[in-house]
Amino acid sequence: MTTAVRFYDHQPVESSSLTMREEVLAGLRAPQKYCSPKYFYDQLGSELFEKICQQPEYYLTRSEEAILATAMNEIEELAGKNATLVEIGSGASRKVRLLLEHMEISSYLGIDISRDFLLESTAKLAADYPWLEVHAACADFCQRITLPEGLTEGPLVGFFPGSSIGNFSPTEAEDFLTGLHSTLPEGSGLLIGVDLIKDTATLEAAYNDAAGVTAEFNLNLLRHLERELGASLDPERFIHRAVFNSTHHRIEMHLVSTMAQVITVAGETFRFQEGESLHTENSYKYSIDGFQALARRCGFVSRAVWTDRGQNFSVHYLERRG
Ligand code: AVJ
Repeated sequence: MTTAVRFYDHQPVESSSLTMREEVLAGLRAPQKYCSPKYFYDQLGSELFEKICQQPEYYLTRSEEAILATAMNEIEELAGKNATLVEIGSGASRKVRLLLEHMEISSYLGIDISRDFLLESTAKLAADYPWLEVHAACADFCQRITLPEGLTEGPLVGFFPGSSIGNFSPTEAEDFLTGLHSTLPEGSGLLIGVDLIKDTATLEAAYNDAAGVTAEFNLNLLRHLERELGASLDPERFIHRAVFNSTHHRIEMHLVSTMAQVITVAGETFRFQEGESLHTENSYKYSIDGFQALARRCGFVSRAVWTDRGQNFSVHYLERRG
């Protein structure tokens, strides 16, 4: 880690694995077993996610980057000069580079749950952009975010790309945006990527890439549980499944048990029937109007919205209003 990055830890290692244990066990005890998708992102999971973004079927990343590239001047105009960018779930901090190359940004705060990945990415960012003041906060953005002191001087722009908001149910998304409304000062911008409702075939292909990277990503969740909580299970006895639920406008990812089996996680045993699944992710899709209405209910007004040619993806510039 270079000293150029100012690091804030909101996620002490011990307490985070304690929370993880309780959260994971609660999900496994439910009638429909589930596990929060935030547990995909250990080191390997974060790397696999970066690989997903490069798959030909996964249009989200390409579409969003194309939109950002064309919208850059308008974004800069809306944000103003010398803004501070706050990236929520910064991961590899790759997309923000597009903004840094084209806009006058004075400081950057990356927030991510994956500590080592965060430190590595922000250190690289600090090395590549020596003029940039770089901050890193290890935190779970599902929790209320408090900005570090001294960061709230210039204009603030939240950056929440990749349709990460899709992991929340619409109700949770409202809670999350309402939380951001209290985190961000009046007049702040929020640049947010939102995947759009579209035909089932395109959607399902994006989550079933031919190279099998998404399957590997999904199955890595079980490895993460093994490593972090201690588990006795064989990931080979599960298969990846991703389907579009058109009632709820969401892709659902599951790990389906290929046989009747008993697994142990953190000392507790769980029975799976053959074909029974562990629900690992929801990825909600929106219409542009639907998303704008949701944002409005949370105190954000739409200043601009852009889509790609194929109307696959949308990027919204919202403004936090009193
Ligand atoms: C990071 C939540 C936006 O839902 O598309 C990609 C995660 N899961 N492939 C998504 C993901 C499987 C991704 N988000």
